[in-house]
Amino acid sequence: HGLAIGVDVGGTKVAAGVVDRHGRILGSARRPTPGHEPALVADTIAEVVGELRAAHAVGLEAPIGIGAAGWLDRRGARVMFAPNLAGWRDEPLRDIISARLGRPVVVDNDANTMAWAEYRFGAGRGCAELVCVTVGTGIGSGLVLDGKVRHGAFGVGAEYGHMQVVPAGLPCGCGSQGCWEQYASGRALVRAAREAASGSPQAGRRLAGLAGGDLATLTGPDVTTAAREGDPAAVKCFEEVGYWLGQGLASLAAVLDPAKFVIGGGVSDAGELLLGPARAQFHAALPGRGHRPEAEIVLAELGPDAGFVGAADLARAGILGRA
Ligand code: BGC
Ligand code: NA
Ligand code: ZN
Repeated sequence: HGLAIGVDVGGTKVAAGVVDRHGRILGSARRPTPGHEPALVADTIAEVVGELRAAHAVGLEAPIGIGAAGWLDRRGARVMFAPNLAGWRDEPLRDIISARLGRPVVVDNDANTMAWAEYRFGAGRGCAELVCVTVGTGIGSGLVLDGKVRHGAFGVGAEYGHMQVVPAGLPCGCGSQGCWEQYASGRALVRAAREAASGSPQAGRRLAGLAGGDLATLTGPDVTTAAREGDPAAVKCFEEVGYWLGQGLASLAAVLDPAKFVIGGGVSDAGELLLGPARAQFHAALPGRGHRPEAEIVLAELGPDAGFVGAADLARAGILGRA
């Protein structure tokens, strides 16, 4: 019935689902990522896929797509590198997984599969020139042009999180300095909140309280909770991260001129607390502002399932076999 299985492999969790041709999720399963060893990751994928097959009427022949938080080669066969997964260096991930499942699988970058899902079924429907940015621990991104996911010549084209926004800035997991993902991510949000709260215990009272008194355990969702309550220190952290988000989007507009930026990822759960400042800085920093159309900046619609929904759909449509 056109069902496909999609799996999203991130640094902390593996999420999978059975998805129909309209992007509807018939069932899903989740596990923590069992360390970063590709063989262990493949075991976990086999587990969730087995669980989904047992619980849903999905045949053994159903296509399987994987979105993975790494830099895939052109064919989607090898993970060349992953800034935030130390174990993933030149790993033949696709073949390891497909051997484990006894089925061919197709693999793409996690943010690319999310971009595809938002394009097909979410906030980017009908928008053929689209940039999707997922603001999570790091920044993931995907580019849809002329209704296709674009990969560049070597497979790693849409890695906007590693565009430099601050010369000689903070070190990044990719080996460079000053990358966008060090300034406009969940990690940056928590860093700003810890700094604010340790700099002024008075202003940081609510943040420290949410962290149970130990700022080292403060999480992104804690900062979102405080900001939603109107806590000024937390709101200010979103202003800072939103500023950097808008700044980076303005540079991307100069290069790509998309019609829309779709913003997803955990940090975007804060909605306008993040997007308000991002739009303001986008407008302020856009080259040629006032003399050109401005891309819309909108929230993603598919939430945390977008990665596996897009992976399933790409596999079903046979698009990901890009050899
Ligand atoms: C990686 C991307 C990935 C993103 C989100 C970034 O650090 O470079 O490949 O899509 O994190 O997982
Ligand atoms: Na990407
Ligand atoms: Zn980087």
